[in-house]
Amino acid sequence: MGKSTKYEAKVPDENGIIPYTDEEHSVWRDLYARQIEVIRGRVCQEFHDGLDILDLPHDRIPQPKEVSEVLRERTGWEVAPVPALINFDKFFKLLSEKKFPAASFIRTRESMDYLQEPDIFHEIFGHTTMLTHQAFADFTHAYGLAGVKASKKERVFLARLYWFTVEFGLIQNGSQLSIYGGGIASSPGETVYSLESDEPIRRPFDPIDALRTPYRIDIYQTVYYVLDRMDDLFELANTDLLALIRKARALGEFEPTYPPKNKEAA
Ligand SMILES: [Fe+2]
Repeated sequence: MGKSTKYEAKVPDENGIIPYTDEEHSVWRDLYARQIEVIRGRVCQEFHDGLDILDLPHDRIPQPKEVSEVLRERTGWEVAPVPALINFDKFFKLLSEKKFPAASFIRTRESMDYLQEPDIFHEIFGHTTMLTHQAFADFTHAYGLAGVKASKKERVFLARLYWFTVEFGLIQNGSQLSIYGGGIASSPGETVYSLESDEPIRRPFDPIDALRTPYRIDIYQTVYYVLDRMDDLFELANTDLLALIRKARALGEFEPTYPPKNKEAA
């Protein structure tokens, strides 16, 4: 959630249908065609299963309404179309109601490779896919409930937990390292980098560590947290997340592993 965006929300009509142009549908088609190839063998089985369950269209932007129908039956979730930028109050409230806030616009052709704001491709392809999985869905719900109760300062910590799981989580299945985070799975460059580059640090997932780790939203991640089993998120969903935040705050933040923003070019 940045401070400004050139993109405008697409508003559903009285039947809950969002009107998209042919050009916008063709952007989805090209994003989908590229990303479905890149993720093959790189995302976890649960993600592949989610794509099978959702059966997203290849050649047009799916309507939140139709994705909601599948999710509702599977895990009780639905997709709530929102403007590109929403505040934390609204974000947490929607998650606490099992409504996934999805930016409704799609990027322009100039931004096929990189976009800082989340667009509908990121939301639907990257996120709703994993919301078909019960442990993941339960964790996201618990996260929303904790966020509603959290103070402004606690939310800074809570945002990191989301970042290092829902957005940028990796998972180890036996000898196979794979992706479940939607921020990675919707980005062709980071899909490859997160698994195959020697640059980032990959640490076993520990919620307290994740809460203590600062991040930047405008570069590939320098740290990834690796989950053992998706069901570990079940456990986390049943933990007092605000108590974990108190512990993390008492221990303090880790030093950033990325360069300060203004010195990057040096
Ligand atoms: Fe996201």
